[in-house]
Amino acid sequence: MSSTRTDLLRAIRDEIVNLTESPLYRYRVDNGYFPVIGQGSHYADIMFIGEAPGKNEAEIGRPFCGASGRVLDELLDSIHVRREDVYVTNIVKDRPPNNRDPQRAEIELYAPFLERQIDIIQPKVIATLGRFSMEFILRQFGSMQAGLRISQVHGTVIRVRAGYGEASVVPLFHPAAALYNASQRSTLEQDFQVLKQFISA
Ligand code: URA
Repeated sequence: MSSTRTDLLRAIRDEIVNLTESPLYRYRVDNGYFPVIGQGSHYADIMFIGEAPGKNEAEIGRPFCGASGRVLDELLDSIHVRREDVYVTNIVKDRPPNNRDPQRAEIELYAPFLERQIDIIQPKVIATLGRFSMEFILRQFGSMQAGLRISQVHGTVIRVRAGYGEASVVPLFHPAAALYNASQRSTLEQDFQVLKQFISA
């Protein structure tokens, strides 16, 4: 019998839980943190990919459950989408110390798990949150837009060929950018409108 999406995603969770070779593993254990694998519908049309868990996320084990998560929820509300109908994850599954940017080696170590999550869930659209996930995803799909800055491509629909067929990538600014900046917030609100075309009735 073939494995269900849930089985396949559980296998990823188990591998990450035991990822002792990660440079972030010791930090996770010493602080009593959890890895943050992903959350939401295993049949989601829209998949959001952030950077790495912050403190709140690592304490609870769920993505975007702190201040940035509240912004994400409001943005989802603005297009009448419920959090449980999308899938939310990050490239790096463990919290980097002091909220520093994820390092290249960390992205490379965790990326194969993200690629498997994408192939299992087969989203119609991958909405990247911030420049790290945008750069990784566009490069991964061999997009012509890879290498462009987020300020040049945010809110656009970039068609890509995924292993499971045609998909789209919509680069978005990271919700944290909107926390203290009203103009970033309104840019994100406008860019979110682009996602409406991917919502099934
Ligand atoms: N920022 C991210 O990129 N991901 C989270 O899960 C939380 C904050």
